[in-house]
Formats: sequence, structure tokens, C-alpha cells
Amino acid sequence: MRGIVYYYSSTGNTKLAVNYLKKHILNAEIDLCDIANEKIVIPDDYDIVGFASFAEYLGPPTLMKNFIESLSMQNGKPAFVLNTFGGFTGQTQTEFAKQVEARGFRVVVGHSLKMPMNYPPMKRKGKHSENAPTTKDMSNFNDYIGRIGKSISQIEKGEELKSIFGAFSLKKLVPSMSRDKVKKDFGIQQIDKEKCINCGNCARVCGYNAIEMSPSPVVDHNKCNGCWACYNQCPKQAIHARSFKGEHQYKGPSKELIDRMS
Ligand SMILES: Cc1cc2nc3c(=O)[nH]c(=O)nc-3n(C[C@H](O)[C@H](O)[C@H](O)COP(=O)(O)O)c2cc1C
Ligand code: SF4
Ligand code: SF4
Repeated sequence: MRGIVYYYSSTGNTKLAVNYLKKHILNAEIDLCDIANEKIVIPDDYDIVGFASFAEYLGPPTLMKNFIESLSMQNGKPAFVLNTFGGFTGQTQTEFAKQVEARGFRVVVGHSLKMPMNYPPMKRKGKHSENAPTTKDMSNFNDYIGRIGKSISQIEKGEELKSIFGAFSLKKLVPSMSRDKVKKDFGIQQIDKEKCINCGNCARVCGYNAIEMSPSPVVDHNKCNGCWACYNQCPKQAIHARSFKGEHQYKGPSKELIDRMS
């Protein structure tokens, strides 16, 4: 049996989670595809398809939504969803599953895993979620991975798999935040030319191709989605948002967390 997980990770938490998942699903060979940075492999040759990303303003990120919509229409191919989050996931998982089901997949398992917070405004408020995932979070994550394994065994036996989200399809969702509001909160980010070393990291990590090096970074604010990836990953704290001058960055999972989830 073969599976593929399409994932989008802005600062490495979701990437760490899908690598853990790949390692612990023992009854299928799982490929990983980073949709922001790698060539897209189509899902046709896979028996089960995973989608993994993070909660962004109470919903799945725009980049993942656009990716799902770009896939060809499926005819009930089994799928699973995973989202990481730093504080309150809202209806991210359900909304994520609905987007995947709208492309004709059948979502059989879903999970939300708490990881460290990478959103600077929440970090400034002291909401770091530094200890996440806790032992209990990991135990729930392992149960979820076990349920994916069970679904794979059922596919092998030719058993019919049920969508776990059908019952929710008419439920009113907590809406994700509007992009206009988000961008208003983020402000029009500025590059501090005194600090910037023109390393190009911000342009590399921007999943929306909103930054061009020319030779210094130039931001196209119409393309910017307000995801804070450039802000978080600038090595010189040279990217400044409305009231944030490079502080409260999240540069990715700590060594302790990487060891714990390896
Ligand atoms: C722009 C932005 C919006 C976020 N919105 C939420 C949210 O609505 N709820 C939440 O619990 N965490 C939110 N977070 C935190 C991330 O979901 C969380 O830290 C996640 O694990 C990051 O994953 P990554 O390292 O794979 O990008 C947000 C982070 C960013 C940068
Ligand atoms: S990541 Fe920071 S230092 Fe590097 S080019 Fe961008 S703004 Fe300049
Ligand atoms: S320019 Fe906008 S979309 Fe690109 S990484 Fe920065 S905040 Fe995200």
C-alpha cells in the first residue's frame, strides 16, 4: 500500500509532525510532498492521501486551499487531514476536511495537534505553547496515526470506508478571519535597510511569491497574504510589521522538540 501526504509548513512544526507520522505508519509506504517547495506528484497512484497544514486565522491556509482546488476531481479516494495549531484551532480541521471532500476525496480520519505558537502577536501576549505537544497530545496523535493504519488495513481488505465528516457538512463553521482584516492587523511590512543583508531568505520562504530580490527585497503587498513567514525567518530581524520590530519571532521547533518527535 502507498500513501502520500501533501503538506504546507511555514516554520517547520507541521513538517516535523508529518515526518513523525511517516515514520510511525508501518503498514504503508508514505511519501511526503512539500507543496510550497517541491514538484507536485499527482495523487492517482496512491491508495490513501493525506493533507497537512497549520491553523492560520482559524482556518486552513490560503496556499493549501488553492492547492486542494487545483487537484483533479476524485471519486471517493480515502484521505486524512492533519492540522497543527498554537492556541485555538477553531473549526480548522472540519473546514480543511470540507475543502478536501469538495474535491471528491473521502476523509476517513482527522486530527489537530497542538505545537508551539509561531504567530508573533500571540507570542507577545505570552501565549507561546512552548511545552506543546504534551505527553497527552502525543498520545492522541499516536492514536490518530493508529486510526490511519487501521484505515489502510481496511482498504487492503477491500472494505468500504466511511467519511467521518459527512455529519458535519451542514454545520455552521466558526468563520476564519477575513484576509483584509488580517492584512490590516499585519500592516504593510517594511524592510529595515540598515539591518537587511540581502540574504534572500524572506523571498525563499514566501509561499505567495510576494517578495522579489532586486537586489534588496521588494514586497508586492497585493500578493502578500499576511502569513508572517518572512518576518519569522529573517535572520537579522529586518522585517517590521505595523507595531512589531522583529521581536517575538518563531524560528522553528527547538532541538528538544525535534529529538522528542524523531
Ligand atoms: C499568520 C498565522 C496565523 C495563525 N493562526 C492561528 C490560529 O488561528 N489558531 C491557532 O491555534 N494557531 C494559529 N497560528 C499558529 C500556528 O498554527 C502554529 O504555530 C503551527 O504549529 C505552525 O505550523 P508551521 O510551523 O508548520 O507553520 C497562526 C500562525 C500564524 C503565523
Ligand atoms: S531575510 Fe531579512 S536580511 Fe534576508 S533579505 Fe530578507 S529582509 Fe533582508
Ligand atoms: S510577504 Fe506576505 S505572504 Fe510573503 S512571507 Fe511575508 S507575510 Fe507571508
